[in-house]
Order: sequence, then C-alpha cells, then structure tokens
Amino acid sequence: MKKALGPSDRLYPMPCPLVLSGTMEKADALAVAWIAIGGAKPPTIVMALRQSRRTLELIRETGEFTVNIPRAADAAVVDYFGIVSGHDHDKFAETGWTLEPSSVISAPLIAQCPYNLECRVLSEVDNGSHVLVIGEVVESHAEESILDATGDKVDAGLLDPLIYIAGSREYRRLGEKVGDAFSAGNALKPE
Ligand SMILES: Cc1cc2nc3c(=O)[nH]c(=O)nc-3n(C[C@H](O)[C@H](O)[C@H](O)COP(=O)(O)O)c2cc1C
Repeated sequence: MKKALGPSDRLYPMPCPLVLSGTMEKADALAVAWIAIGGAKPPTIVMALRQSRRTLELIRETGEFTVNIPRAADAAVVDYFGIVSGHDHDKFAETGWTLEPSSVISAPLIAQCPYNLECRVLSEVDNGSHVLVIGEVVESHAEESILDATGDKVDAGLLDPLIYIAGSREYRRLGEKVGDAFSAGNALKPE
C-alpha cells in the first residue's frame, strides 16, 4: 500500500552544496539543495534560488558563481550558510572559512570544500517562487586527497559529501557502494 502525500518539492536525497558569488574581496555563499546537472555539452548547472538571496544579487552583478561540495563532517558550517544571510552577516568572517582563487572566473572557491565547479551564468527563468539560474560549468577542481587511483576521478568515499534529507530536515552521509552504474543492469538482459 502506498499513501498519497500531495504535491511535493522533496526528492530523497538531495545534495547540499554551497553556492558562492562575488570576488575575493566581497563574496557571499548560501546552502542550495535545489540544484542539478542540466546538460552535457556544455556541462550545465540548474539551481532554484529565491529572489531575496544576497548571493543571487552577486550572481546578477558578476554573471559568475561557484558550486562547492562540502564534507559531511562540516554539516554545522553548511547549515550556518543556509540560515543566516549575507544581507546582515559576513559568513566567512563568522565561520572562519576561507576563499581561494578560481582559475577561469573571478568568483572564488571555498577552500574547505574539496570539490568545486566554476560557472558562468547562461540564463535565468523566473518561475514565480524561485529564479532558476542556469550556468555553464567552465572548470572543475578536486583536492588530490579525494581522487581515486586513476587520479582523474573523485572517489565518493574519500569525498564523503554532505547529503540533505528534506522531509526530516536532517543531514546525512553516503552509505556503502551497492553496484556498478551502466553495467549492473546487464545481468537482467535477456540472453
Ligand atoms: C539545507 C538547506 C537547503 C537550502 N536550499 C536552498 C535552495 O535550494 N534555494 C534557496 O534559495 N535557498 C535555499 N536555502 C536557504 C538559503 O541557504 C538561506 O536563505 C541563506 O541564508 C541565504 O543566504 P544569502 O542571503 O546570504 O544568499 C537552503 C537552506 C538550507 C539550510
């Protein structure tokens, strides 16, 4: 038996990166659970931001932003970026988290987040409740300590990313590997 729960804005799970805009001198960042990959050539990010966000103002000023994937161990800092606004807080001064330069764009990366995407805004769509910001990913960075044996892919276990569960409003971390993508299904193909 399934129970109907009504129209829902919840997916299980959701990512919870910090999206940053601005410059090395003046930056703001916020927690964003409503974010996804929206295309491949060029690689594209789509995220839903409320009009009131200070970070959205900076995205509009500069046309640039970075997506910074935090570690599960940093849940409290990420939550802080998601509960106070740059309108009246300097979140970097208050958390002690720091910026480092991007390589292609002016918007910096968050040093404490081990995986980062540099993005340029392609377009905006206003859907009433949120602005959908669509951006092209122009560069990506990973700390060497989270790379797998090939040296060019992120090892999910080493990254240990923060996961957000909307319904119960809690943060979690990834569990164990359960299969190989694009090949586990081969076992079900008819002979
Ligand atoms: C777990 C979590 C997820 C969030 N996801 C979003 C989101 O997807 N879009 C959004 O506009 N705000 C989201 N927020 C709220 C913003 O992060 C929050 O309002 C933040 O204080 C805005 O900061 P700013 O005004 O400095 O940009 C989220 C907050 C939390 C705690």
